[in-house]
Amino acid sequence: MHISFSGRTALVTGAAQGIGQAIALGLAAAGARVHLADIDHDGMQRFAVQHGMTAHVADLGDRTAAHALVDAVMGHDARLDILVHAAGGVRGQVGRPIEDIGPADWRAIFEANVDAAFWLAQAAAAPMRAAGYGRIVNIASGAGLRPSLTGIQAYTSAKHALVGLTRQLSQDLARFGITANAVAPGFVRSNPASERQWQSYGADGQQRLVDAIHTRRLGQPADIANAVLFLASDQASWITGEILSVDGGRS
Ligand SMILES: NC(=O)c1ccc[n+]([C@@H]2O[C@H](COP(=O)([O-])OP(=O)(O)OC[C@H]3O[C@@H](n4cnc5c(N)ncnc54)[C@H](O)[C@@H]3O)[C@@H](O)[C@H]2O)c1
Repeated sequence: MHISFSGRTALVTGAAQGIGQAIALGLAAAGARVHLADIDHDGMQRFAVQHGMTAHVADLGDRTAAHALVDAVMGHDARLDILVHAAGGVRGQVGRPIEDIGPADWRAIFEANVDAAFWLAQAAAAPMRAAGYGRIVNIASGAGLRPSLTGIQAYTSAKHALVGLTRQLSQDLARFGITANAVAPGFVRSNPASERQWQSYGADGQQRLVDAIHTRRLGQPADIANAVLFLASDQASWITGEILSVDGGRS
């Protein structure tokens, strides 16, 4: 099977870190014109300049900003075929006792992981429907399917919500040629938070984590990107509403 995104325009959020960047690279290598978005200017800008991609700085938890981003892509390319929402993560938080969590902690994680996914899909729906074509891929997590290794209550809740949103988007939009799927990665050392988490396990804890993975190795950002590329391809036109675990196998 040969996957080509020639003539397609893609928007990848969360492009200041490993997984979003790997997805952007994969899409570009297969011929897509790629727009990047993140709240973190510096990380994304360096990457964008290095790879000749268009970067947009935005807080995507804000509805106006998410809609303005889609308008900017449409203004630039007059099309938006592929929307990959990889922004999210833990927003610098670590697992804490339940009574220590305040409204701002809770909201920051929901805004990045769920609100942003909804506002972006809402904004992209009109141009995709008009084109009769669209691919939406949300980056969920194993934490969207079971309790999280991070121990962060809001993260688990937000990723579960993202799984539900993805299924609802599929039911709403697939009749117009717009598929909506999610990829649920296992643990990947792709950003400062996951690196700190890995280091906190110590040698024994790291070994236990790897031993619980059927393939006996951690994932790489490219493992996640490869699954996204398939779901974003023309070949995946009859796959929608699915949550694909990409985690090396878990018992
Ligand atoms: N690394 C892992 O082990 C792992 C496992 C499962 C799922 N994930 C998910 O994969 C995705 C990518 O993760 P990653 O490991 O590359 O790093 P990450 O989780 O740090 O990436 C999140 C990116 O989103 C950006 N972001 C956060 N809030 C934003 C907002 N409001 N508006 C715009 N951008 C915002 C951040 O600046 C960051 O670049 C995330 O959604 C994460 O939850 C990661």
